[in-house]
Amino acid sequence: MESNSAAIKAAREILHNNDMGGYTVPTHDLYPFQWNWDAAITALGWMTFDQTRAWQEIEFLLKGQWKNGMVPHIVFHKEVDSYFPGPDVWGVDLPLRTTSISQPPVLASVVKILFEGATDKDLAREKLSEILPKLIAYHLWWYKDRDPESTGLVVSYHPWETGMDNSPAWDDALSKVPPVDWSYIRRDTNHVDSAQRPHQDEYDRYLYLLDFFKKMNFDSRKIFDNSPYKINDIGIISILHKATKDLISLCESSGLELEQLPLLKEKISATEQAISQLWDADSSSFLSKDLIADQLCPAITTGTLMALYGELASPAQAEKIKVLLQDWLNACEFGLASTHPNSDKFEAQRYWRGPVWLHINWLIALGTEQYEMTEITEQIKQTSYDLIEKNGYFEYFNCKTGEGCGGDKFSWTAATAIYWFL
Ligand code: DGY
Repeated sequence: MESNSAAIKAAREILHNNDMGGYTVPTHDLYPFQWNWDAAITALGWMTFDQTRAWQEIEFLLKGQWKNGMVPHIVFHKEVDSYFPGPDVWGVDLPLRTTSISQPPVLASVVKILFEGATDKDLAREKLSEILPKLIAYHLWWYKDRDPESTGLVVSYHPWETGMDNSPAWDDALSKVPPVDWSYIRRDTNHVDSAQRPHQDEYDRYLYLLDFFKKMNFDSRKIFDNSPYKINDIGIISILHKATKDLISLCESSGLELEQLPLLKEKISATEQAISQLWDADSSSFLSKDLIADQLCPAITTGTLMALYGELASPAQAEKIKVLLQDWLNACEFGLASTHPNSDKFEAQRYWRGPVWLHINWLIALGTEQYEMTEITEQIKQTSYDLIEKNGYFEYFNCKTGEGCGGDKFSWTAATAIYWFL
């Protein structure tokens, strides 16, 4: 890359070109709507040069919030037919159409960064006072609707909700979900090489689950009682945990004595008490749990490292994870592979089964920094920079060759690069 200023210019251009007037598509055609965690990460990029636009990204996402507090994984602001499954397949009957699941709730942590980094403090205070009650409702939805038995570990019902769609962590649990019984035409493989996307039999099951949610009338309790797929995703749990701590800190520093704060604090302690259930001493790693099979999902992925980001690992556990992480980084030229390269499910170019994702590297680097793993943190940052310098702003990268994969001119890759190291 010629210079950081050329790289910043290119990244800003991507955000401008993907801007639909208030919300940013991840990339045109492949993902033509607003996605939940993409929007949060993308706001970080906007904030570096247009704070009003950064706040607007969050406001547009929250337009899709459900009455029960859920912030959906996709908000279908406009009709576009280059994507499948669109709003009719999801079947949510709301004036602003959305999906019926959520996504890793990094939103409150991003709002904290936007607020603390704001130079326009009046604007930031005004936006925060509108956004905070919505964030609180969102977090309470996770803790109540997704953990109705107050175990301290929220449940996820769909691989798309984890953001890590075809991660090998979900293979066994998803294989027990029946395939959908109607035919359909995928659109993703019109835009991207199918070798870089999930398999058809995974899509068949993704769609079965959409029908199941509709059949349950999107009723949280009925879904909890009957879902054929129930996962304690260590990724979501850790991101939620960190975001709840950030949310509490935002409320306290704004002098807000909200009645919900004690409950949120209780939820923080409940997760800290319960998290040891997801520690697997044999692999020296936290793992997700399949609640239907009542067993840990035996795949070591970047999702499992989110425990560092959420500061859920004890110092002794973190020391063990550090050894795993060193080995993991050394196994591929470009880190950090989304699935540990020693896994027999590892594929260097297929979506969440091996490729490197820039925003995930950033979250993991925040985690390793908290545990004072200085060299590892630097290594992750350097390899992220090298990927961008060599290949530009792709959705993800082949961890062996560095080749850009998936969608090109991708918003969260551009946003992460500007915010984190450019
Ligand atoms: C997709 O369509 O591939 C998305 O990841 C779903 O969120």
